[in-house]
Amino acid sequence: MNRVASTLPLAGRKAFVTGGAKGIGAAIARRLAADGAQVTIADLDIATAQTLAQEIAASAVRLDVSDLAQVSAVMAQQGPFDILVNNAGVDQHAFFTRTSPEDWRRLIAINLESVFATTHAALPAMQSAGFGRLINIASEAGRLGSRGGAVYAAAKGGVIAFTRSIARENGTKGITANVIAPGPIDTPLLRQALDQGGDKLLHAMTDATLVGRLGTPEEVAATVAFLASAEAGFITGEVIGVSGGMGCGA
Ligand SMILES: NC(=O)c1ccc[n+]([C@@H]2O[C@H](COP(=O)([O-])OP(=O)(O)OC[C@H]3O[C@@H](n4cnc5c(N)ncnc54)[C@H](O)[C@@H]3O)[C@@H](O)[C@H]2O)c1
Repeated sequence: MNRVASTLPLAGRKAFVTGGAKGIGAAIARRLAADGAQVTIADLDIATAQTLAQEIAASAVRLDVSDLAQVSAVMAQQGPFDILVNNAGVDQHAFFTRTSPEDWRRLIAINLESVFATTHAALPAMQSAGFGRLINIASEAGRLGSRGGAVYAAAKGGVIAFTRSIARENGTKGITANVIAPGPIDTPLLRQALDQGGDKLLHAMTDATLVGRLGTPEEVAATVAFLASAEAGFITGEVIGVSGGMGCGA
């Protein structure tokens, strides 16, 4: 299909995607760019981010999302943004008694505090413009809990409660705030877990879905693109599972 740039659904929109160098974030960056948005990829891995940025005519910036001062400086310099996708995140597989306060602080900083910081930086301009799309990538672990991932689940649960609160505060200002809760998605993060857990873990993950397979980063990206579009203006404060149904009923 030959799509004319100005008729693309996100033409004229500026998007900031954290953790956009690899995995789900890379698929999101690709999809938002294909839909016409001007994308900034923010990632610790600047070399991979730059390679992708060149390929999709986006920008790349080195950012550690857990460094709150760096987040506000980078976003002030690169913004304002119409679309913010908080995707950067890390997991750590360990039963709770084997985790330390240092682990808690690291996981909370990367998965949750980062979302406070980027939202704090992006919201005022969205409020002035009367348009904004906040899309936070949490996890089904944030709704269901996670065996071997209590702190990660707590951080993602925090992302859900935070996003709903922002949706409540900004609903009449043209700003929507939604969460995507992925299930097991085939990415470097998941492959790292599978390296430790092997086939048994893979089967446990696919069995936990109703469709019996891993998801793809592109399936998450398609949902992000829809939530970012003008068509999704009446959807806010929602948690949308892209998880093969593993969160159904939650
Ligand atoms: N893959 C899954 O099965 C799955 C399931 C549920 C939720 N999620 C969530 O989806 C998001 C993306 O996961 P993924 O599987 O694509 O991960 P990934 O590890 O494959 O990619 C994550 C990206 O984030 C970047 N990143 C990590 N820490 C960062 C930091 N401090 N600052 C900036 N960038 C940083 C990495 O460099 C990488 O490019 C995460 O929030 C994750 O919790 C993933």
